[in-house]
Amino acid sequence: MAGGRSASQAHRRSPEACARSLKSTSTRKSLRMDGCSIRPRIGSWDAGRSTICIRTFPVRCLRAVEARLRRQDIRLSARYIGSDRLDPWDRDGTMQKPTIAIIGPGRAGSALGRALRKAGYTIAAVGGRNPDNVRNLAEELGAKACQTPATTIDLADLTILAVPDDVILPLATEMVDSLCSAAGKAAVHLSGAQDRAALRPLARQGSLRTGVFHPLQTFRRGPEAAQNVADSYFGIDADPPLRDQLMQMARDLHGHPFDLGGIDLALYHAAAVFAANYPTTLLAEAITLAVEAGLPAETARQGMTTLLAGAVNNLRNLAPADAITGPASRGDQGTIERHLEALKRDPELQRLYRLLADRTKLLSANKEAAA
Ligand SMILES: NC(=O)c1ccc[n+]([C@@H]2O[C@H](COP(=O)([O-])OP(=O)(O)OC[C@H]3O[C@@H](n4cnc5c(N)ncnc54)[C@H](OP(=O)(O)O)[C@@H]3O)[C@@H](O)[C@H]2O)c1
Repeated sequence: MAGGRSASQAHRRSPEACARSLKSTSTRKSLRMDGCSIRPRIGSWDAGRSTICIRTFPVRCLRAVEARLRRQDIRLSARYIGSDRLDPWDRDGTMQKPTIAIIGPGRAGSALGRALRKAGYTIAAVGGRNPDNVRNLAEELGAKACQTPATTIDLADLTILAVPDDVILPLATEMVDSLCSAAGKAAVHLSGAQDRAALRPLARQGSLRTGVFHPLQTFRRGPEAAQNVADSYFGIDADPPLRDQLMQMARDLHGHPFDLGGIDLALYHAAAVFAANYPTTLLAEAITLAVEAGLPAETARQGMTTLLAGAVNNLRNLAPADAITGPASRGDQGTIERHLEALKRDPELQRLYRLLADRTKLLSANKEAAA
């Protein structure tokens, strides 16, 4: 078989041609030459520079191939069970890292792509709608740039749909038409607000497994975002063995996996928005107020941001009721009245302040009642 063939080229070959390649001396040579670098892929096997298409091989053929490779002392890092299911476990009990495709080189897709690569995962492909964004991330991650997002799924074991929530279902529907082989493949999305049903068009494709891999984290644009990945919690919803693979992936990212199965996702995601997004909105209001009060803009921004960082720092090892400070938790009603007076010119913000002050009093009162 000619060297340097891409997996997609290999897919176009007939099973007979693939079988002939397997028997050919040149293939055997290249297998031996590349020794342990042989790596079974879902839908194709990369033997160093040769790609052997196996997606249409019957199981007994695969077993024969396995036996032959074993005789050549080449260790397989994965194996097929039945006709189209990939066992993610190695023979020695360690789990094989799936090759990854990322659709959507935006905030979350780029951060995860960079972190996964650092954790030793091969990013086989990057897909998306903007050619420049796709090419830039693909080049950085040593991946193939796929300008048609739907075709990306054929180039990796596990495809991550890192696209806006509302795009997941239409994109999954589009991907079905482009799918060459469902054998052993998996696809996940990153949304904490949608369950696996968003991938149902793909889930109906033979053995293709689908799941949710929600980083309970906030990612900005740019390479710095990858720093937020370690230590993050990852909500996972999938059936085994994909579930095990995703749990392992979260651990490989130095994160903490947890089960999202059976969780009320709307409520869960609203909680995440309260934790990550609204403090940022409140900080923006704080900076505006500080500037209105007369602080220089940069002092207002840096000072208020450092203040928020201090509050988050206190929360690392204290419960919110123990960590909270300020007039509402202390019961300094006079100070609160002066704040409300100062906020009179913005009635909405005044209302928001009052609501938050009441909730803060409740937090402190509940703590006292529990003590
Ligand atoms: N960012 C976070 O903090 C965060 C955290 C946890 C989970 N998530 C989840 O991650 C997913 C992505 O969010 P994000 O914040 O990373 O969004 P984002 O920064 O806006 O990135 C979305 C990516 O999807 C691409 N895209 C948009 N519409 C598309 C379409 N129709 N077909 C193909 N690609 C399309 C965008 O293309 P362009 O390159 O052209 O813009 C962009 O690369 C969402 O499900 C979100 O809930 C995000």
